[in-house]
Amino acid sequence: MNTALAKKLGLEVPLFAFTRSKEVVVEVTRAGGMGVLGAIAHSPEKLDEDLAWIDARVDGKPYGVDTVMPQSYLGRGETVTKEMLDAMIPQPQKDFIAKMLAEHGVEALPDDYERHEDLLGWSVEKGLAHIEIALKYPIKLIANALGTPPAEAIERAHEHGVLMAALCGKTKQALAHKAAGIDVIVAQGTEAGGHTGEIAGMVLCPEIVEAVGDTAVLMAGGIGTGRQMAAALALGAQGAWTGSIWLTVAENDGYQHAHVLEKLLAAGSGDTVRSRCISGKPARQLVTEYTKLWDGETSPGTLPIPLQWMVQAEAVERIFHHDCTALMGSPVGQIVGSMNEVRTTASVMADFKADYAAAVARLGALS
Ligand SMILES: Cc1cc2nc3c(=O)[nH]c(=O)nc-3n(C[C@H](O)[C@H](O)[C@H](O)COP(=O)(O)O)c2cc1C
Repeated sequence: MNTALAKKLGLEVPLFAFTRSKEVVVEVTRAGGMGVLGAIAHSPEKLDEDLAWIDARVDGKPYGVDTVMPQSYLGRGETVTKEMLDAMIPQPQKDFIAKMLAEHGVEALPDDYERHEDLLGWSVEKGLAHIEIALKYPIKLIANALGTPPAEAIERAHEHGVLMAALCGKTKQALAHKAAGIDVIVAQGTEAGGHTGEIAGMVLCPEIVEAVGDTAVLMAGGIGTGRQMAAALALGAQGAWTGSIWLTVAENDGYQHAHVLEKLLAAGSGDTVRSRCISGKPARQLVTEYTKLWDGETSPGTLPIPLQWMVQAEAVERIFHHDCTALMGSPVGQIVGSMNEVRTTASVMADFKADYAAAVARLGALS
């Protein structure tokens, strides 16, 4: 009951888990799936440290790394500094953020506060640096979000015998991935958490499977159970690529604010929205006061990558530092409606396997 791609990668189940938690990576991989570490918020040193930690715990089982190299963004291919980009941020957006924070009583960060994220993080340069570190480890897969990765990234992965995956929300993008030499296409439906398109997975996945022929496809978006994984395989995918379901597992503790966890556990499947407020590109996330304001009538509108991230990154850190629950949110998909309690990664994996086997048996018993 396994697919050709899963066998090639040495997986017991055709289940891929995107997560920023090194602990979840280890648990998914140890349980027979593939944990894929999201590297976007990692400095090169931290990525090295986390991969060494993971590698020491997976007993040689397969894991992967995810980078974010947007295909188009302001400043791509040019030498730009943070100061130059800062100067491009229009005043109305700065004023809008300042007013929002003042109205919610969110104070400035204390003087000794250490900023978390690299403001220029979503770039080809940073992605390539992540890949070089990742290739020091026996990873089996590198994935990229927000477009076809540059040829250099694909070549480097292939030189090390590592498969290269890329996410997409349209068949046209899938064909561009294939033409560039991508090995695994992640067909992500609109249900998904994070950056996502408008087409439902039920339509997109089989359309891409048909279009790309012998290139392996994974289905993403809204998959949180074994029966949904079975549905992905029925649509022609070689496996399921998941993200949201790992946000509420016990091993993600430490990567999530307690108030956000409460919001995720309470949210229904209708409590998400595709908003450009994080990066300038539509990303599905919890509906919050923050998304409502950016998408509301008084909004000055969002900016292109990476300016939108830059205009609001410090604000988001202030919101979290000062516990402003109303404005706090998280990228998450529509499957959030089924994420109602904190469970261990091992128990989610066990349920995936049992529910998948039951779904396959149900189909097999039909006459
Ligand atoms: C909190 C969160 C952060 C994400 N960040 C990234 C990212 O940095 N890179 C990436 O390739 N995908 C990212 N994604 C998308 C996931 O890789 C995955 O495609 C998506 O979650 C699948 O849909 P699902 O959320 O319905 O499981 C993110 C998703 C979530 C929920």
